[in-house]
Amino acid sequence: MIGELQLDLARMRAARPDFGPVLMGRVVACDGGLIEVEGLPLPVGSLGAIAQEGAGECLAEVIGFRAGHSLMMLLGDAVLLRPRAMVRALGQPGEVRVGEGLLGRAVDALGAPIDGGPPLHLPHAWPLAGAREGALERARVTEPFDCGVRAINALATMGVGQRLGIIAGSGVGKSVLVDTIAAHGAADVTVVALIGERAREVSDFVARHMAGARRGAMVVVAVPADHAPNLRLRAAQYAASIAEYFRARGQRVLLILDSLTRVAHAARELGLVLGEPGAARGYPPSALAAVTRLVERAGNSARSGGAVTGVYTVLADGDDANDPVVDTARAILDGHIVLSRALASRGHYPAIDVPASLSRVMDDLVAPEIAAAARRLRALIAAREDNRDLVLMGAYRPGGDALLDEALALSGAIDAFLTQPRGAAVRLDEAQAGLLALLGKAHA
Ligand SMILES: Nc1ncnc2c1ncn2[C@@H]1O[C@H](COP(=O)(O)OP(=O)(O)OP(=O)(O)O)[C@@H](O)[C@H]1O
Ligand SMILES: [Mg+2]
Repeated sequence: MIGELQLDLARMRAARPDFGPVLMGRVVACDGGLIEVEGLPLPVGSLGAIAQEGAGECLAEVIGFRAGHSLMMLLGDAVLLRPRAMVRALGQPGEVRVGEGLLGRAVDALGAPIDGGPPLHLPHAWPLAGAREGALERARVTEPFDCGVRAINALATMGVGQRLGIIAGSGVGKSVLVDTIAAHGAADVTVVALIGERAREVSDFVARHMAGARRGAMVVVAVPADHAPNLRLRAAQYAASIAEYFRARGQRVLLILDSLTRVAHAARELGLVLGEPGAARGYPPSALAAVTRLVERAGNSARSGGAVTGVYTVLADGDDANDPVVDTARAILDGHIVLSRALASRGHYPAIDVPASLSRVMDDLVAPEIAAAARRLRALIAAREDNRDLVLMGAYRPGGDALLDEALALSGAIDAFLTQPRGAAVRLDEAQAGLLALLGKAHA
């Protein structure tokens, strides 16, 4: 009994309630999703609660200010807002709550559970935008990361602390591929951010993974497509904050974001609402900067020894590889996997376009003979793809090109090596042994 009371007392002491005056403001204008509030001088990123006609309060976020008025955006659906409605400041600006309690749970952008479970008790605060670190605080990528996908493990080996993009048009298999990596990637904690995806996919993902073996080591942050843009951006930042929190505790985190393009879309909507001019494909500079900042939060930490390995899906709109988000992602990521619609339509899954995919860290991570074998297999695959039409038409005569001859002789074995049944895992050493065995066959 006394023990329980002491615990309660300790909890109260730790809570440090704020007895200061509560800041209140009033709505003075509302147009195009932007709400102007007077008398509420809060920093950008703070939350506020707006009183609604007869229906409690709704949440909004400060996204800017102009002429002494705060500009806010609703975090929920459109509501019955009236002029001069009261706005109340909420919580600590720019901070989110994190803690061990997130493991095994699925939450929304504000940290509320969406899995029907009990409320979360999260004791630690973490900056939503991330704690900025010096460039030298980032340790190098020196260890291979086993992602469970044979073609990637063997031909574009990932590293612990690497940031990898998965680039493809819609419906080519990005989500299925990251699903496999989430289930089989070797990590202490897996944080999955499902941003702007279909609500059905979110519930499907949560149902499957939260019942699986990884349950106690996985956190899902999800905001489906129909939610406000600032919620989508916030959810991506929240997921990065959760990953950083576990990294600071020395753990190896796998951070998966599906999809980075939807985050860029959300940032674009926010920028345009604030009146920023759109540049490349309507993306204001701030939207692409938001993407860069988000991706830069992954990496190894020299101080804690922990790591955040990032996997980001990027939608190449209309299979156009010159999309600004694709360009930005390619430039800042340490590697990309390109999925090909042609392979997918042939039923070749995962539809990884090997010659177009690249891991910039691979050569530092694997033994020289593996790197050489991977280069050789890439050359064989490229030769086969380049001459595919010629061979199909029967216009190619064997003996004309030694590389192509070898590729054609191994064709069946190469396809068997590159494909993998959905949901299955192939470990890194198994994939590398398979690679050597496959090329060994050519010389046997
Ligand atoms: N490894 C696989 N094995 C079998 N089928 C697959 C595989 N990967 C993808 N598919 C098929 O492709 C479909 C689309 O895949 P997925 O949802 O992953 O695409 P996506 O690139 O995420 O699309 P979007 O951009 O629309 O989100 C799946 O529903 C499935 O039928
Ligand atoms: Mg998808």
